Amino acid sequence: MHFVRIQEVKLAVDLYISAGEWTTFSHYGLNEQMAMESLFASNSCWRYIIEGEDVIGIVGLERINPLDKVAEPCMAILPNKQRKGFGLKAFQKLCFGLGVNEIGLRRLQATILSDSPSHKLLDKSGFKCEGVLKKLRFKNGEFIDGLLYAWVKGEN
Ligand SMILES: CC(C)(COP(=O)(O)OP(=O)(O)OC[C@H]1O[C@@H](n2cnc3c(N)ncnc32)[C@H](O)[C@@H]1OP(=O)(O)O)[C@@H](O)C(=O)NCCC(=O)NCCS
Repeated sequence: MHFVRIQEVKLAVDLYISAGEWTTFSHYGLNEQMAMESLFASNSCWRYIIEGEDVIGIVGLERINPLDKVAEPCMAILPNKQRKGFGLKAFQKLCFGLGVNEIGLRRLQATILSDSPSHKLLDKSGFKCEGVLKKLRFKNGEFIDGLLYAWVKGEN
């Protein structure tokens, strides 16, 4: 598995949407292009995940704060490639290969919704739950809680 820098935002956007991640922010009422421009805004870096010859998903570090050395990892694996172990492998490569070793980050934080498929991925990568974010996001007609997970250098 390796990562390739994203040059063509439109292709990355299509991939992200097809992995189902679009549903998490469609309620903001932004059109697709605007939402994606905001997603790929400055202070973030995004990469395709390549397995063999194929693009199987996308990873990103968002809101990179170079002073505090904090960022937020994100990822989406294409539906037909999920549950095969690629997500965990890519997530750890993103966090520790790119984030900690290359960029020098010391804190990685991820806010997930309580019904997210990412719990095990975070647990298995040494992230700890730091708290509940009450009624964080509007989904399916109601506000649901979020959870703040973090990995902190020297703490895990
Ligand atoms: C979350 C996601 C990245 C996981 O990728 P994946 O390649 O399927 O994950 P893996 O196969 O490496 O599985 C890692 C662990 O998570 C668990 N897991 C994966 N998908 C799960 C799901 N939908 N529900 C519950 N657990 C799940 C696996 O069982 C595995 O744990 P195990 O080894 O104890 O069985 C993938 O489902 C995805 O891209 N979803 C859509 C986008 C999204 O929700 N992104 C996260 C928000 S940033």
